[in-house]
Amino acid sequence: MFEDNFNANAWKRLINFCMPVSEITPVEIIPDNKRTYDKCLNVLKAFFTKGVGRRSPLKGFLFEGVPGTGKTELVRQIARGVIDIKPSSRFKTTDDKEAYQIAMGKRKMDSYNKGPERFFLFIDGATIATPKWGDAESILQAVFSFHNFLEEGGSKYGKIADPRVIVLFDDIESLMLARTSEIAKEWHYSINAVLFHELDRVDASKTFVFATTNKPELVDDALRDRLYSIKFKPPKRESLLEIAKRLLWDAGVSERMQVEILKAVEEKLKEKKLPTIRDMEREVIVQCVERKAW
Ligand SMILES: Nc1ncnc2c1ncn2[C@@H]1O[C@H](COP(=O)(O)OP(=O)(O)OP(=O)(O)O)[C@@H](O)[C@H]1O
Ligand SMILES: [Mg+2]
Repeated sequence: MFEDNFNANAWKRLINFCMPVSEITPVEIIPDNKRTYDKCLNVLKAFFTKGVGRRSPLKGFLFEGVPGTGKTELVRQIARGVIDIKPSSRFKTTDDKEAYQIAMGKRKMDSYNKGPERFFLFIDGATIATPKWGDAESILQAVFSFHNFLEEGGSKYGKIADPRVIVLFDDIESLMLARTSEIAKEWHYSINAVLFHELDRVDASKTFVFATTNKPELVDDALRDRLYSIKFKPPKRESLLEIAKRLLWDAGVSERMQVEILKAVEEKLKEKKLPTIRDMEREVIVQCVERKAW
């Protein structure tokens, strides 16, 4: 059936960039990003469970801020946050729910509650880039109909009763450029047109969109109209050192060595005005190498 569909190849390509949210590795949210995490997760849950998103002109969130501030990781953690949403909204009455359970078998219901019906789809420039002109547009279209692909059983996950898809367009400026940008080419115009069209049509109660960028000046205003924008600042130094502590602990570095390394990392980060998580991670590794921590 999927062989006939013009989207078939595009969907098959996308399946490599998709995972059930239950497979996302959990990471502790730093205090600096906790408010954004709560806000986005509440909205996402409302869209997915209360049908709020069905007609919403707003289709998701745009995270903007300097590189290494945790934008991509936070989207992954928010997506993971819907692991436990209840399917209650799908049933108007208790009878409906029972009928569903009988029809699908108890196991199906249990597996629903573990969250395999919620998927995270990661899209960046490399996912969309294809050697053939025109393919990029069809892959982009397939992102927005991926929900149907899962529902109809085209993927390796079999038929999914009521899938929800969280799409992340990571570093969206590598995919689309503002039409006002001097470097925007014909290719970008065509991608923009497809993206805006699909975003307008998408049912955000089933497919919810996140985008990240560290070059906000290259993001088209039409995208900002459709996504709620949140600005990221580099985290506080205490937060960076907290993550550093966890990294060293997870890496099995001895406690004595941890203290030494943390002190050195703190000193090094003082050389930077606004150090990012990536700056800290890099320094932790450098210190571990130099001090032969392993
Ligand atoms: N809460 C966290 N705890 C531990 N590590 C984190 C956390 N958030 C982010 N990181 C790590 O910090 C690094 C930078 O995070 P991330 O890639 O999300 O930043 P970004 O803002 O998306 O950067 P860019 O704009 O360059 O894409 C990554 O290695 C990520 O795994
Ligand atoms: Mg990123």
